[in-house]
Amino acid sequence: MRLHYCSLTVVLLPFLLASATDFDFFYHVQKWPGSFCDTTGGCCFPGNVKPAADFGIHGLWPNYAACRPAGETNRTRCWPDFCNATNTFAPSLISDLKSDMDRNWGTLSCRSNDSTAFWSHEWSRHGTCSNMDQHAYFLAALRYKARFNLTRILLDSGIVPSEERTYCVGSIRDAIGEATGSAPGIECNRNARNETQLYQVYQCVDLAGTGPIPCPAVPMQGRCTDQVKFPAF
Ligand SMILES: *[C@@H]1O[C@H](CO)[C@@H](O)[C@H](O)[C@H]1NC(C)=O
Ligand SMILES: *[C@@H]1O[C@H](CO)[C@@H](O)[C@H](O)[C@H]1NC(C)=O
Ligand SMILES: *[C@@H]1O[C@H](CO)[C@@H](O)[C@H](O)[C@H]1NC(C)=O
Ligand SMILES: *[C@@H]1O[C@H](CO)[C@@H](O)[C@H](O)[C@H]1NC(C)=O
Ligand SMILES: *[C@@H]1O[C@H](CO)[C@@H](O)[C@H](O)[C@H]1NC(C)=O
Repeated sequence: MRLHYCSLTVVLLPFLLASATDFDFFYHVQKWPGSFCDTTGGCCFPGNVKPAADFGIHGLWPNYAACRPAGETNRTRCWPDFCNATNTFAPSLISDLKSDMDRNWGTLSCRSNDSTAFWSHEWSRHGTCSNMDQHAYFLAALRYKARFNLTRILLDSGIVPSEERTYCVGSIRDAIGEATGSAPGIECNRNARNETQLYQVYQCVDLAGTGPIPCPAVPMQGRCTDQVKFPAF
């Protein structure tokens, strides 16, 4: 990673001198809509149109390999965030990506009826730390999702959404790890019946946002039990 970062720095030095954010890798995070919607909080769909039963992007998040003191206060941080308050989200910069974003990066929150607030938050908090401009940032996340279709990868391993079945969380991680070359982190949540289920997949990606890398940190297994549900949507 260090090596990669150095070669990137050399190439982009003139651009990065003023504003480069130092981080070690990206988490490309996708969520399963069935596991967002069946919680006590529920969900809403933009324009009231139910999206496809497919993983959706949550974000592309710069991350440190190990938590460290960072920022002006040297507070221990595990990732950089909100790196440039004046660089706000501008929909006009990504208008050509809008339909792809609607399909693959839609909000499920009930707080707004379109995904603009979601994208704006992802850009301000994470994107401004990515060393990419807005168009490059959103495009990189979309391309990475298209490169590895998690729904299909799981399907090909016999891991299909189901109201009844449970799956070994290890077999979910293995299926994605074998297909991409990098074992992901798996995050679980609980449905309204308090059953543990697959919620989000964290893939470790290089600093250009293009290729999988072995996760520098031990892959997280947030809130999962050995057996988890993968609910229909
Ligand atoms: C943060 O750490 C750096 C490097 O150790 C040091 O130079 C700086 O004074 C520290 N800043 C604060 C506010 O403690
Ligand atoms: C923050 O973003 C603004 C607007 O895009 C840009 O002009 C400025 O150079 C950025 N600041 C840093 C420190 O990168
Ligand atoms: C979303 O749309 C519905 C139906 O059109 C409306 O009742 C609701 O107030 C809207 N919510 C927000 C946050 O705009
Ligand atoms: C991913 O694969 C699933 C299962 O084959 C398919 O339904 C879905 O449309 C694919 N997603 C995209 C964005 O192509
Ligand atoms: C859900 O299950 C967990 C683990 O069994 C338990 O600790 C927790 O209290 C339960 N929560 C509710 C709301 O029942």
